[in-house]
Amino acid sequence: MNQPINQSTTSLVQELQTLRDFVRWALTNFNSHHLYYGHGTDNAWDEALHLVLGSLHLPWDSDDRLLDARLTQLEREKLLELIRRRCEDRTPLPYLLGESWFAGLSFKVDARVLIPRSPIAELIQDGFAPWFNEDEAPARILDLCTGSGCIGIACAYAFPTAHVTLSDVSEDALMVASENISHHHLSDRVVSTSSDLFAALGGETFDLIVSNPPYVDLRDLSLMPEEYHQEPELALAAGDDGLDLVRIILAQARKHLNEGGVLVVEVGNSETHLEALFPQVPFLWVEFESNASGVFVLTAEQLDEFQADFDAACKP
Ligand SMILES: C[S@@+](CC[C@H](N)C(=O)[O-])C[C@H]1O[C@@H](n2cnc3c(N)ncnc32)[C@H](O)[C@@H]1O
Repeated sequence: MNQPINQSTTSLVQELQTLRDFVRWALTNFNSHHLYYGHGTDNAWDEALHLVLGSLHLPWDSDDRLLDARLTQLEREKLLELIRRRCEDRTPLPYLLGESWFAGLSFKVDARVLIPRSPIAELIQDGFAPWFNEDEAPARILDLCTGSGCIGIACAYAFPTAHVTLSDVSEDALMVASENISHHHLSDRVVSTSSDLFAALGGETFDLIVSNPPYVDLRDLSLMPEEYHQEPELALAAGDDGLDLVRIILAQARKHLNEGGVLVVEVGNSETHLEALFPQVPFLWVEFESNASGVFVLTAEQLDEFQADFDAACKP
């Protein structure tokens, strides 16, 4: 399936000269290798442009005239290698570039973390309206299952006085999250901590708990394109129905939410399983302009009301 690119690098380095040549060459190979686009772009053309411009540290909306600029030999060799890895190894583009964009912000990423793509970005950019506003901003925020730290760090920008905790069970992910805290100069307000869900958070409480936990069920996991299998399995897999972690989050969140607090959780396609498991719970499913779905909101009061149901669902 992942056939090699059949042309010697030496001849290609001589033949391909300009950025435009490389975009065209990438496009041909992306199409012939039937790549999957789900990590920042959704088509071969955008992916080729992002690869060429991104790896040369040029803005992706650069003036078209730049495409006819010639490249140095080192740049040509670098581009050929990136195109080869994208096609033959199926490495997602953000891993190749070491960077991903979320809520208009740049994040360092590599294979230790999921590539940011949560629709929760839209909620953050809207300031979590109508649950919060400028006068009633959350003072303490928890980004549970933080990965690269993208959600919590974007929340810190949205609420400039809030203190944010980023937590994850993966030490690898926490290293990347810490790099992103430094990258955004937020170490005075954003901390990272190692915790298996809420286990190491003691008596800490928050006004907003936001989480994009692993929620892919067994069936979806087996059907995912190869690009997604390069992401940490710990970031995706969550048992038969995708709800292994969500059940625990629902049962334990209330203890860590202040009065008037809000829980926001992404469950993606596992929304159907969650509705079937708790038909009595009035999950509020966020409507996104992007047409995304699978993110619910529950208030602290609603968690109180259904605590017994959430506890029962956690019993073996
Ligand atoms: C779907 S990724 C989300 C990453 C990031 N929040 C984002 O939106 O890009 C889920 C994250 O949950 C972490 N995780 C998995 N099991 C966990 C657990 N039991 N406790 C805490 N974090 C966990 C994974 O390491 C991974 O970083």
